[in-house]
Amino acid sequence: MQYQEKLNVVVIASGRGSNFQALIDAQEKKETPFRIVRLVTDNRDAKAIEKAKKAGIEHHIVERKRFGSRAEYDYALADAVKPEETGLVCLAGYMRILGKSFLDRFDGNVINIHPALLPSFPGLDAQQQALDYGVKISGCTVHFVDEGVDTGKVIIQSAVPVLADDSADSLSLRILEQEHRIYPEAVRLIATGAVQVPGARTKP
Ligand code: GAR
Repeated sequence: MQYQEKLNVVVIASGRGSNFQALIDAQEKKETPFRIVRLVTDNRDAKAIEKAKKAGIEHHIVERKRFGSRAEYDYALADAVKPEETGLVCLAGYMRILGKSFLDRFDGNVINIHPALLPSFPGLDAQQQALDYGVKISGCTVHFVDEGVDTGKVIIQSAVPVLADDSADSLSLRILEQEHRIYPEAVRLIATGAVQVPGARTKP
């Protein structure tokens, strides 16, 4: 299927970038209703940068230490994403909280992937939190981003079993496989209008 008008997606990632790669793979394997136009990162050593270069996607580095207040940093980060050209911002392993001065510039068009079944285990080390609690099922969630920590409206979830001999690493790997499946699917749902963005605006 040929999509006349594609949603411009910008990915923000801090590290390895395997979810970023899953989005790249999705758009390279088959016709998608979205196109990744840029990677923005807060970490000049992020492996995600190599993945962007390999895929021919431009990248911008915005380092936190170059800015005094968090609001100034968030504003510069939003500038690098270029709100006027961007339809959807995908956080993919971005390890900071986004403030109002960022979110206000995207009218709700910001989503995140989290390695737990929210609202359980928000924040850092979600897989270890799940193991510590002793849950028998965990998974991952793609959700809209608001000013809270992993509190926005859920778009898609996928569940995996937690096995008796799991370590944080083995559980993370099982969850990651599902992350790579549901993240492109969530972007597709938004790009086709199957899921409505809270406070939606016309896509550039
Ligand atoms: C992923 O597991 C993602 O869900 C998680 O960081 C990892 C990034 O991996 N994000 C969070 O924990 C956010 N709270 P990646 O860089 O290979 O995509």
